[in-house]
Amino acid sequence: MVNRLQELESRVRQDLGRAGDLGALEALQFKVLGRKGELTQLLRHLGELTPEERPAAGQEANRVKGVLEKAFEERRSQLSASGSGPAAGMIDWSLPGRRGFRGRRHPITQTLDEVCGIFSRLNFEIVEGPEIELDYYNFEALNIPPDHPARDMQDTFYISEGVLLRTQTSPMQVRVMESRKPPLQIVSPGKVYRRDSDVSHSPMFHQVEGLMVGEGISFGDLKGILTLFVRRMFGEDTPLRFRPSFFPFTEPSAEVDIGCVLCQGGGCRLCSRTGWLEILGSGMVDPEVYRFVHYDPEQVTGFAFGLGIERIAMLKYGIDDIRMFYENDQRFLNQF
Ligand code: PHE
Repeated sequence: MVNRLQELESRVRQDLGRAGDLGALEALQFKVLGRKGELTQLLRHLGELTPEERPAAGQEANRVKGVLEKAFEERRSQLSASGSGPAAGMIDWSLPGRRGFRGRRHPITQTLDEVCGIFSRLNFEIVEGPEIELDYYNFEALNIPPDHPARDMQDTFYISEGVLLRTQTSPMQVRVMESRKPPLQIVSPGKVYRRDSDVSHSPMFHQVEGLMVGEGISFGDLKGILTLFVRRMFGEDTPLRFRPSFFPFTEPSAEVDIGCVLCQGGGCRLCSRTGWLEILGSGMVDPEVYRFVHYDPEQVTGFAFGLGIERIAMLKYGIDDIRMFYENDQRFLNQF
């Protein structure tokens, strides 16, 4: 009896070492110390022993029981501490679920898509171009000569001689015309860069360029397309006006104003008491530009326009500081 008890003890000690998680440990404990376990079974036979054998066997049985119980306890705390048992990593199905964050498109992206969507439905193709641009495309081929004030170091981020961060999306006019034959009608969205920063200027902002060139395209087409755009973007009843302006690469040129969204034309701080807000620049493509892309100005005419996305988003949503767009404050972004 004493031998069998000791055999059991050493075998269970080995099995204990092999029990890799709390589940296996539980099963082993049940098998050995449970109500019908091996040790319990052995103890049943105590009664069959002679009175001489009984005390020694009884003592040994109690020792083995105590030692094993302690060994199970130790193994249990070992396994829970190492976290390898299911109890440690067990999933608590009763816990409330964690809500995932739902992403949103940035208000600038939304406005860009809205503007491009309107032109896309008017059959304008969307093309994109490089932000690091050659002086040739950003200035020279747009009829901006070397001594023009727009080239001033104040405004342009230069990368190296003849290479810069584009200050406008207009270089895409040249790139598109250079690589295709008329007729064409495109819009080109993207980032532009200028050395400027305050509540209404950011060193990086977004523009959408538009270009329509072909036979017999007139200033009337320019007015028609841009009027349609303003109505779809700001609402059917939005007042608008075409105001004479100047750009080196368009002639004649016009800026488009809409009735002030804040005072409805009465005059306020936002519109400098004029009742009007400028939203885009436009004009008929200057024949000088056609010379650079080898189009014949006697054959084709066309118009171009450029609009600032931040400015349009600010007017549309009543935002008075452009920097809000780039701070990535969730409380701001979640409103769109
Ligand atoms: N590129 C001009 C700007 O950034 C806008 C413009 C584009 C004007 C096309 C006329 C034609 O101010």
